[in-house]
Amino acid sequence: MPRSVIETVESHFQLEANIGGYEAESEAANEIAMAYEHVSKLLATTPFNIAFSEHATASFVAAISSVPFVSGDVVLTTVNDYVSNQIQYLALAQRFGVEVVHAPEAPEGGVDLVEIEALIHRLRPKLVAVTHIPTNSGLVQNVEAIGAMCRAEDVLYLVDGCQSVGQMPVDVQAIGCDYFSATARKYLRGPRGAGFLYVSDRALALGYEPLFPDLRGADWVAPGMYQPAPDAKRFETWEFAWGLVRGTGEAARYALDIGIEPIRDRAWKLADHLRSLLHQQDKVTVLDHGKVLGATVTASVDGWAPADLVRELREHGINTTGQESIDAIIDYTQKGVDGSLRISPHYFNTEEELSVFISSLDEIIR
Ligand SMILES: Cc1ncc(COP(=O)(O)O)c(C=O)c1O
Repeated sequence: MPRSVIETVESHFQLEANIGGYEAESEAANEIAMAYEHVSKLLATTPFNIAFSEHATASFVAAISSVPFVSGDVVLTTVNDYVSNQIQYLALAQRFGVEVVHAPEAPEGGVDLVEIEALIHRLRPKLVAVTHIPTNSGLVQNVEAIGAMCRAEDVLYLVDGCQSVGQMPVDVQAIGCDYFSATARKYLRGPRGAGFLYVSDRALALGYEPLFPDLRGADWVAPGMYQPAPDAKRFETWEFAWGLVRGTGEAARYALDIGIEPIRDRAWKLADHLRSLLHQQDKVTVLDHGKVLGATVTASVDGWAPADLVRELREHGINTTGQESIDAIIDYTQKGVDGSLRISPHYFNTEEELSVFISSLDEIIR
């Protein structure tokens, strides 16, 4: 996290300690309102359309719970959607008899746009759900093209932007989605335990609401009746760690101040450079496959489990993450690997750090 994010979070907790939690919330009302402003600007929308949450999955679950599924409905998704989302689609299948359909991959990587368009047309899915940048691959899905298809067929469209927000420009109008779920803690460099959700005017006007609203998302207006909030706050719940919300707003402001395009250009350039360095290494296979590749670099190393590499690299002061096949069962099976080592350069990393990473990896493998 940038220093200003840490200071924002700490100052709010300090205020709570000094004057009390409810009191701190009302004293920081303007700063909290600014957090909605900054985050909405990040997604090219308005505060009316933003709900804060505890994390990306909480945002995603609130969104998907708003869809009134009945038996036989189709959820159309991709083989590269995030693992938790895939589990949730299957849970919907078990409970409501929803059919989960995975659009196939194109030969060049990424979901096949011709196939997904045909599937939308033929199956009339109740929901199309696509992860913008998967957790298991450097792939950037063409969510705008899929959005245009959903708009043309008037189909509800949910995008998981957990890895893309803060990494690359996001314009929810251009994507054409009804929901966009995200976290603070990844490329955005916000605190852990905070996320947010964009909800379109269209979804709000159609009356979509989470399955379990609470007294923040709705008013109990008569003994047998509640009234959902008019805006995306319908998707929020009452209790918040406001320090984390404010920290998320500050992370958005900080990223906007640097400029999201320079952030993307720098991070993607580092990732491209890293891929070319990895290609030159014996025993290493770069796994990223797609027309557009982002800042997450995935690789497998002959004879090494990713978790062991992560541990060894940490000894060298290098933070990476490892995945097993169950983290992306379809993608890793198609690639013929048991998981991957993920190296995710951020814009603040340097070329020298990539060289240090490569020599450390080389030393470990030897
Ligand atoms: C694409 C994607 N979606 C959703 C999530 C879930 O984020 P969180 O655990 O913060 O809810 C992740 C986490 O890695 C992710 O990579």
